[in-house]
Amino acid sequence: MRPAPDRVVSTGGGFRAGQARSRGAGSRSRARGVVITNGPRLASAQGRGFPATNRRRPACPDSGGRDAGETVQTGTEDEMKVEGSVALVTGANRGIGTAFVQGLLQRGAKKVYAAARDVGALKELAASDPRVIALPLDVTNDAQARAAAERAQDLTLLINNAGVAGMQGALSAPDLSVAREEMEVNYFGVLRMSRMFAPILARAGGGAIVNVLSMLSLVTLPAAGTYSASKAAALALTRSLRAELKRQGTAVIAVLPVQVDTAMGQGLPEPRLKPEDVALDTLDGVERGTEEVFPGALTRNVVDAFAADPKAVQAHLSAMLPAVN
Ligand SMILES: NC(=O)c1ccc[n+]([C@@H]2O[C@H](COP(=O)([O-])OP(=O)(O)OC[C@H]3O[C@@H](n4cnc5c(N)ncnc54)[C@H](OP(=O)(O)O)[C@@H]3O)[C@@H](O)[C@H]2O)c1
Repeated sequence: MRPAPDRVVSTGGGFRAGQARSRGAGSRSRARGVVITNGPRLASAQGRGFPATNRRRPACPDSGGRDAGETVQTGTEDEMKVEGSVALVTGANRGIGTAFVQGLLQRGAKKVYAAARDVGALKELAASDPRVIALPLDVTNDAQARAAAERAQDLTLLINNAGVAGMQGALSAPDLSVAREEMEVNYFGVLRMSRMFAPILARAGGGAIVNVLSMLSLVTLPAAGTYSASKAAALALTRSLRAELKRQGTAVIAVLPVQVDTAMGQGLPEPRLKPEDVALDTLDGVERGTEEVFPGALTRNVVDAFAADPKAVQAHLSAMLPAVN
């Protein structure tokens, strides 16, 4: 039995830090100061970005050195096992999506539908394990989402991971095209997939939906203003899905990482989270019946600062404006 993680408890008006409990076995030093800051187009400097607290947290002793993710607990009623699950991961061809597929296989999933716009990009992943089934899926496409649902009638775990980030300001962007694409993928894509798969999960007895959001669902970075808006919308949607799907026993989990070492995170400063840590902390959260997963030490650092003073974190990020062309 895994020990309970340190907690951030949702309190309606925001978050307050729960009591950190030592879980023995050594602590891991945490990155301080800048967490998310100047990508190539961000007009910021060191010392900017998400502020951090200095409180140290212990590493999870059974995580193999990996830092345990920060979670909001919901009790045990929504818990499910990854072992034996049948999962679908959107945007599985790279980044965090590929890490999810690998993590699911590692944790004993029975079958993993790996979905991507370009099914050819899944060749290696599909060849790596007979449990992987490649599916063509653009999450903005109704017909493809319906076809995926028809194929994956045995699904128990939906992972809405696909996302796009334009890294642009709300006003400095030349037009609305990127903002619309962010909404189409990051918000409507999650909504479309959840609507398509909710009845299937109900027939499976509940299961879970995981929505890969961002710390920018909680606070807005003006230099990625339209992306932040799409992720905030997706967090609002996640809460609504959770409430609506409770009666059918489907857990709905939000994942809110800071910067991750993927193509999307390339313009963001180091250190960055490893995609596999995001995936594994999330799967831990799924098994614990968690509502919100804050994966890795970097994210927890920001959550601590946010818990202490959400307005201060927002004020800090509000100083990071997009570059003016
Ligand atoms: N990286 C970070 O710093 C970070 C931080 C917080 C949250 N996140 C979130 O984590 C998730 C995964 O991002 P990542 O870091 O792994 O980024 P990534 O390496 O850029 O991967 C994005 C994935 O989404 C897919 N995708 C984009 N539009 C799609 C569409 N219309 N239909 C289906 N798939 C689509 C991409 O497929 P193609 O190869 O076809 O483009 C790719 O597989 C995203 O939701 C992102 O917002 C990332």
